[in-house]
Amino acid sequence: MKKILALVLAFAFIFSFAACTKEPTVSNAHAKKELVMATNAAFPPYEYKEGDSFKGIDIEIAEAIAEKLGMTLVIKDVEFGTIIGGVKTGKFDIGMAGMTVTEDRKVNVNFSKPYATGIQVVIVKEDCKYKSYEEFWSKFDEKGNPAEVAKGIKIGVQQDTTGDIYASDTLDNWGFTADNVICYKTGAEAVQALMTNKVMAVIIDNEPAKSFVKANKGLKIMDAAYTEEEYAIAVSKENTELLEKINKALDELTADGTIKKIIDKYIPAEEK
Ligand code: ARG
Repeated sequence: MKKILALVLAFAFIFSFAACTKEPTVSNAHAKKELVMATNAAFPPYEYKEGDSFKGIDIEIAEAIAEKLGMTLVIKDVEFGTIIGGVKTGKFDIGMAGMTVTEDRKVNVNFSKPYATGIQVVIVKEDCKYKSYEEFWSKFDEKGNPAEVAKGIKIGVQQDTTGDIYASDTLDNWGFTADNVICYKTGAEAVQALMTNKVMAVIIDNEPAKSFVKANKGLKIMDAAYTEEEYAIAVSKENTELLEKINKALDELTADGTIKKIIDKYIPAEEK
């Protein structure tokens, strides 16, 4: 009997001790859920870094959406080509990166309603002798032997973007073939390669192109006849509830003028 009492006391002692030393826990019941957004923040004015903070159209629209959803926005700056895969597997809740809706991407993720548009343009050195993309491209093919002619014509792109897809396409589709394309991790790196003559041109979305041309002396934009692309938010195919909430938030933010205000802040009307 004494033994049992001793055992009971010992247990009571251990438990009371455990209770005392337990970390004080803060109730998580009221903490906001996180909305994890994957982006690639070298794509001004849609997303870029200023010191440690993220800036840009996508960042502000995502913040407005998170607020409507009662969630806290968490931004992950990753390689562009890993965004779709990460959204698909649930590593990220959303992908928002000036991301064009394409049929290939739609196989892996769902897209929200589009919130902006873009076109692909070609950045070249100011002294580039070709007036248009068509002229530039036709020189490439002038001897009917593209690989030969192309030796001096390398095109820089950001890997896995629509610019990469167009540039790497076959000649029949107005591309330059993959052999003549150099892929960089960011658009900014592709532009640096142009500045240092490692490539002759960079194919990229028009708004980042304007930002890069503004920030680097001696560059200009050549219009190209690419079709308009729509930018939307990628969400996992499994998370249809989140997709619906995002679409509703986008509708409301469009109706009350918030989205227009954000876009106008980064892309002044006279530059559109
Ligand atoms: N619109 C292009 C695409 O979807 C380029 C996007 C690149 N975005 C970025 N944040 N780096 O392929």
